[in-house]
Amino acid sequence: MASEGPRPLVAGNWKMNGGVAMLKEPRLLAAMLKDVKLKAEVMVCPPAVILRRVKSVLKGSKIKLGGQDCHAAASGAHTGDISAEMLKEAGCTAVIVGHSERRTNHQETDETVLNKAKAAQRAGLTAIICIGETLEERKGGKTLDVVASQLKGSLPPGSTAANTVIAYEPVWAIGTGLTPTTAEVAEVHSLIRKELEGLMAGEGKGVRILYGGSVKPANAAELMSQPNVNGALVGGASLKASDFLGIIKVYA
Ligand code: 13P
Repeated sequence: MASEGPRPLVAGNWKMNGGVAMLKEPRLLAAMLKDVKLKAEVMVCPPAVILRRVKSVLKGSKIKLGGQDCHAAASGAHTGDISAEMLKEAGCTAVIVGHSERRTNHQETDETVLNKAKAAQRAGLTAIICIGETLEERKGGKTLDVVASQLKGSLPPGSTAANTVIAYEPVWAIGTGLTPTTAEVAEVHSLIRKELEGLMAGEGKGVRILYGGSVKPANAAELMSQPNVNGALVGGASLKASDFLGIIKVYA
């Protein structure tokens, strides 16, 4: 049983995977979900260059489209970057910001992430803001402090439950096959909920808090059943329609 709360979201982050050859997977997923009554919202976040192709494959389906990152500005001299407005125009309803791979590989700070989240909200997108501790931080007993501080630093003032999703992704659980225990997940998600209620007042209880990091069909039900877990942000297992479906079906 999935936990009570806001309507869950299961989002697939393809990362830098999936060219035209992968279009068959969302096509298959859309077909498989056609007659499934879902309690969750489902989204795929492919690389920007194939957003429009994926959008057309998903036409008429319930599956939504998201971006993986955006620039803080609406337009301008930013070679290689993409604005939130462009993602909106391409058919996205959300964008991931502050993924740990961006924080690490592109030296993104909480302030960078806050500005990107603000841009997403400005463009009418939901900002999926990622936070999570490293293994060293967890071993040092700093998890709750790190997560609370990233949340506070990355959440734009005035955010609402409608335009904000938080994804808790422990860095050491991403792509490793390792996951925190369900008690550890519940502990962090409950802290995030408490912090959100402090930072966003009444809006805080409606914000979806996703868990991400090695979510698979085999562990999804247990992870998603924890209190304050309102869905998943899935990497590797979102690349194959059958695996992703196995996770989504927790909410069928
Ligand atoms: P994996 O599911 O491959 O561990 O990736 C998680 C992730 O980083 C989603 O954003």
